Amino acid sequence: NIQGTKAPLTLILAAPRGFCAGVDRAIKIVEMAIEKWGAPIYVRHEIVHNKFVVDSLREQGAVFVEELEECPDDRPVIFSAHGVPKAVPAAAAKREMIYVDATCPLVSKVHIEAERHHRNGLQMVMIGHEGHPETIGTMGQLPEGEVLLVETVEDVGKITPRDPENLAFITQTTLSVDDTIDIVAALKDRFPAIIGPHKEDICYATTNRQEAVKAIAPKVEALLVIGAPNSSNSRRLVEVGASSGCDYSQLVGRAAEIDWRALDGARAVGITAGASAPEVLIEEVIQAFKDRYDVTVEMVETATEDVEFKVPRVLREPA
Ligand code: F3S
Repeated sequence: NIQGTKAPLTLILAAPRGFCAGVDRAIKIVEMAIEKWGAPIYVRHEIVHNKFVVDSLREQGAVFVEELEECPDDRPVIFSAHGVPKAVPAAAAKREMIYVDATCPLVSKVHIEAERHHRNGLQMVMIGHEGHPETIGTMGQLPEGEVLLVETVEDVGKITPRDPENLAFITQTTLSVDDTIDIVAALKDRFPAIIGPHKEDICYATTNRQEAVKAIAPKVEALLVIGAPNSSNSRRLVEVGASSGCDYSQLVGRAAEIDWRALDGARAVGITAGASAPEVLIEEVIQAFKDRYDVTVEMVETATEDVEFKVPRVLREPA
């Protein structure tokens, strides 16, 4: 574009977007732990799946590791928002470490559900993505073999539960709402006695962000989802965009990753952000558009959120 002749473009911001209450709490936990105990504070796994967040906490004194074995005994360790298998806090306790669990309360709720069903003698089916830390953490609440994982409708046909009459299902919190409806239907079809939560375990933040994308997708030629490649809920937003009438939907970490050529000719572009993407990155993306286009910003709000989670007591008490 020649200066002064920027093309007009409408940016439609989805609301709600970005940080959820569980992410907000997890980041606060790391910051408050550094304040309380000083650096370094160890964090097992990326506290939330966002490089920008992780880098800025690292600058404040957080040390990110993948396994508890990499932490010294005498420094506090924080478990990420995604949750951890039972064996992890158990190992920390055995080593007499100070640990703070930043597992989102809505993930912990699923853990408790799984345990309750297990106590009642039911085997579990988990709908989730293989290898995602939340899935590993939730499956790790119960002994090996007690949780069967399904990722797709096809998987439902492949599992062999011990007793089809004694089954319950749980889900990852960040799944696609629509895909999950199909998987649950397939489970109920094959195992009519299966017990499940009233709704699924998909959290309010996931549901609301997907709803907002559905509302803007038909209005735009392209959708940008700000989020990380390992962020499950962000990837689902890209899929929802694509299946809701938007021809081009792309995940971008930050402004520098935008493929401007792919947006050529677009008059309206939708913007949303995954639950672990901070608002500064959204502002950065909007600014990058303003540098290139004559931008009008609109917002489509499909829900309002006022969820807030308290940090654990140990961090609320004076040192
Ligand atoms: Fe929790 Fe949902 Fe966020 S499970 S961490 S509120 S995406």
